[in-house]
Amino acid sequence: MPLLPYALIRPWLFAWDAETIHDVTLRWLSATQHSPLRHLYAQSRINDPVHLAGLTFPNRVGLAAGLDKNALCIDAWQAMGFGFVEVGTVTPVGQPGNPKPRMFRLPKAQALINRLGFNNLGLSTFLANVATARFRQQASPMLLGLNIGKNAHTPIEQAHDDYRACLQAVYPLADYVTVNISSPNTQQLRELQTDQAFVDLLQMLATERKNLQHIHQKHVPLFIKIAPDLNDGALQQLCDTLKTHCMAHGKVKDDAWGVIATNTTLSREQVQGQPHAQETGGLSGAPLRAASNRVIRFLRQSLGPDFPIVGVGGVMSADDAVEKIQAGANLVQIYTGLIYAGPALVTSSAQAIQRQAPSTG
Ligand code: FNR
Repeated sequence: MPLLPYALIRPWLFAWDAETIHDVTLRWLSATQHSPLRHLYAQSRINDPVHLAGLTFPNRVGLAAGLDKNALCIDAWQAMGFGFVEVGTVTPVGQPGNPKPRMFRLPKAQALINRLGFNNLGLSTFLANVATARFRQQASPMLLGLNIGKNAHTPIEQAHDDYRACLQAVYPLADYVTVNISSPNTQQLRELQTDQAFVDLLQMLATERKNLQHIHQKHVPLFIKIAPDLNDGALQQLCDTLKTHCMAHGKVKDDAWGVIATNTTLSREQVQGQPHAQETGGLSGAPLRAASNRVIRFLRQSLGPDFPIVGVGGVMSADDAVEKIQAGANLVQIYTGLIYAGPALVTSSAQAIQRQAPSTG
C-alpha cells in the first residue's frame, strides 16, 4: 500500500476541473519521482513474469497511453509497481489539441469523456524526457511502450509519413511501440483500421520495423491499438488482415506483433442521462468494460492462442483485471481506474491475476 491513502485525497482531487488537476498531479509526480517523497505513492512490484512478443513483462498490469503523453513521470509509474508503462501518444510535431474544456468526469458511472485530440509537445521533447528516465539504470524490470500517432494537420493520405517518422525516432528507446489508429478525437484516424488502408499500414510498418531491427540490432514488437466500436464484420476483416500479414503457420512472424484492445468508445448507451454524457469525445472507464471485453474475446477466438493481446477498458477493480485475462488478454492496462481507485489498483490487480491465472514465466 502507498503511504498516502488515495481515498483521503480523491475528494480534494475531484473538486478541481479534471484536466487542471491532471496536469498538476503529473507535475507533482515528475517533481517527486526522484526524491524521498516518492514513498508517498511507491509500492512493491508484484513479481509475476510473463513472456510475450519476445519480451519479459515482470507482471501483467500496465499503464495505458494518454495519461502521461509527454513521458514526464516514467520513474513515478515504475515506483507504483507497474509491470509496463506506455507513454504518448506522441506526434511528429507538438500540437495544442482541441479547445478546453475537453475532459469530463462522470463519477456516477465511474467514467471519463475526453476529446483532448493528441495534445502533446512533439517528438523531440518526448524523446528527451524518455532519455532522462532512470528506471533502466536502476535495473528495473519494468518495460516501456512508446505510443505513436499522426498530427491533426497531416492529411490522412499522408499518415504513413507521420507514423514512419515517429517509429524511426522512438525505436531505439522503446521496449515496444504502439501504433495508435483508434483515437476518436483525430479526424479520419479510425479509417486506418479498415480495408486496404490497414493492409498498406501493416506493410509499411513491417518493412520499416525490419530495417530498424537491422540498424539498431534490437527487437521491438509493434502493437496495434484498436477501437471498441468495430462491428463483427469489421473485426473479422481486421483479424483476417492480421493473420495474412503478421502470422505464418499459426504463429506471429518474428514475434513482432500484438494488439491493444481497446481505445475509448463513441457509444453513450451506458451513460444516458448523466451529466456530461453528451459531450463529444471518447468514453472510458466502467461503461466501456463490456465492449472492450467483447473485442478481446473476438480477437482471441479469431487469432488463436499465440497472438499477443493487451486488454484495456474499464478495469476499475482487481476482479475486472482478472476478467480481462479470462476474456483472452495476456496483459491488462489501466487509465480511468487509476483516477477513480488510485495506485493500490496496480498491486491488487497484479496480485489477483497472479492468483487466478498463474503465469508460466
Ligand atoms: C486516453 N486514451 C489514449 N489512448 C492512446 O492510445 N493515446 C492517447 O493519447 C490517449 N489519450 C487518452 C486521454 C484520456 C483522458 C483518456 C481517458 C484516455 C485511451 C486509454 O489509453 C485507454 O485505451 C482507454 O481510456 C480505456 O481504458 P480505461 O481508461 O477504461 O482504463
